[in-house]
Amino acid sequence: MTTALAGGLDQIVLVVAAVLWPAAAGFAYAAFRPPHDPRFHLAALALSAGAVVVSGVRVALTVRLLEAGWWFAAEKVLLALPLLLIPMVYALTTTLPALLRRDRDPKRAYPLILTAIGAVAGVACDVVVSSPVSPSSALVVLLVAGGAAALAWRLVAGTGGDRWRVAGFAVALTGVVWAITGSLSAPPMHAGHDTDAGGVSVASLRGPADPDARRYTLTARASSLTVGGRTVETWSFNGQNPGPALRVKQGETLEVTLRNELPGGQGVTIHWHGYDLPAGEDGVPGVTQDAVRPGGEHVYRFRADDPGTYWYHSHQNSSIAVAKGLFGLLIVEPAEGDHTVAIHSYGNVKTLAFDDRPPADGLVTADLPPGTPVRLRIAGTDSLPVVLGLSGVDFRLRSVDARDVAGATPLRDRRLKLAAGGRYDLAFTMPDGPVALSVEGHPGLALNGRAAPATGDLLDVTRYGTLPDLREDFDQEIVWVLDKTFAMVDGLPRLAHTVNGKGYPNIPTPVVREGERVRITIVNRSGDLHPMHPHGHHVEVLSRDGRPANGMLVDTFDVEPGEVWVVALTADNPGLWMSHCHDLAHAVQGMEFHVAYEGITTPFDVGGPAGNHPA
Ligand code: C2O
Ligand code: CU
Repeated sequence: MTTALAGGLDQIVLVVAAVLWPAAAGFAYAAFRPPHDPRFHLAALALSAGAVVVSGVRVALTVRLLEAGWWFAAEKVLLALPLLLIPMVYALTTTLPALLRRDRDPKRAYPLILTAIGAVAGVACDVVVSSPVSPSSALVVLLVAGGAAALAWRLVAGTGGDRWRVAGFAVALTGVVWAITGSLSAPPMHAGHDTDAGGVSVASLRGPADPDARRYTLTARASSLTVGGRTVETWSFNGQNPGPALRVKQGETLEVTLRNELPGGQGVTIHWHGYDLPAGEDGVPGVTQDAVRPGGEHVYRFRADDPGTYWYHSHQNSSIAVAKGLFGLLIVEPAEGDHTVAIHSYGNVKTLAFDDRPPADGLVTADLPPGTPVRLRIAGTDSLPVVLGLSGVDFRLRSVDARDVAGATPLRDRRLKLAAGGRYDLAFTMPDGPVALSVEGHPGLALNGRAAPATGDLLDVTRYGTLPDLREDFDQEIVWVLDKTFAMVDGLPRLAHTVNGKGYPNIPTPVVREGERVRITIVNRSGDLHPMHPHGHHVEVLSRDGRPANGMLVDTFDVEPGEVWVVALTADNPGLWMSHCHDLAHAVQGMEFHVAYEGITTPFDVGGPAGNHPA
């Protein structure tokens, strides 16, 4: 059984337990009271038997999750199971014999009621507690359960006046108040990294001015596009969807002037996705700059020393801005003879844009001279991954996220899953016959005629090419547990995509020192796929789900439900760096945070007068 399946089953089973135990307790309580209907005894016994079995299944699933790692089961072992199993043993040894004896004392139902409270607390645990188990979230569950236990005692004992009722309400209320204030009192986003903390301002970490720079101007404006027979209102750079592919030769300086002509006060920035540039050029509003308001302008400069396929996109309200079209490809070219492919959904119509042609939702065709080297530079710019396939020719996955893959062996008829925000360069020599690039199993791009879409196995990209011995020495270890729990996001409680149990901006900021090698373990406890994207760095993939990986360098990688990825980050680019899920809707729902270098500060503010909003 996969970890994801065990986690999913556990969520079903915990709800079933939270229904069966209270039902059993209700019938037991009724059976102990006049008129002592024997059918209530039977119902209580039968439901208890079912609930014991279900609780056993929960224990077994927890053991399975523990095998996958402590992160997957922490709150179950520390909190949910003790709250269930301890009263359960108490109930099995007291309430059940009393039911069999047909006792008539309602107090005998109390252990079973406690078990029921424990089972319901298990649901609360699942909703509010993640890994690591924070004392405050655990206390919230304990207080609410304790309050309920006191109220229940008032009910079964029927004596003690209002004392138990008052005590019960007081304790439960403390839990609720704690839950709310505890999450509100989290440190602000830039704690310890405000300009008044002293140190180097991120605004001073800029690229060089160069009289020979290759210059582009990108103007954000409202546009429209006809795809799939429908007209979609988009936002564009220079009226083009996707925005113009920016091409620069390796070693040149790129200078891009951003202008904003968007309506409605909408701000814009440009983030150079995957390019590890000086932090001040990273284009994150509230961290490296203020969002450019309509009528405003901002200039980005950096030396393009790392060849490869990148993309750029606005980072202001990015979940909306990128979907609406504020993006384009950035190619740092070592050689000629390559083509860009941008895959994007405009208003739910999935499209493919080949080179500078407009995006099309049907088949795109092109003719290339047989015998010439071809490099398809493909970027996935949606918030979900895309399964690609290449057929009709032997090809190599030459690079992933603009970094060459060592020992890239020839592939034929294979399919590859591209992360949301990730890039693959597929290289081949144009054969005499046709070549097809398929997208989600459908023909996408047909070169020199039609070929059947690839049907071969999905390539495990983390084990493609050579598998070297990877360095295992580290200066620091970080764990990011991805989950879906109730948490504060932007000051409001909601069901959130969390990291270590917290949502933006309350996720603690890991602080690294320049020169450190940091081991990062990313654990996905949730049922959703998370394409994680650290800014400013490529990380080296050391292992995926315990299987040693090829050490490839990535800037965006899919952590599937139940998976554990171990990556190494070399801290060689001082700054304040965003790190987030590139399913941009997940970022808005909490899954974004910072990685900060010691001694780097920012004069910019999230929210604030400029209305900076990175997600
Ligand atoms: Cu394309 Cu912050 O990312
Ligand atoms: Cu996500």
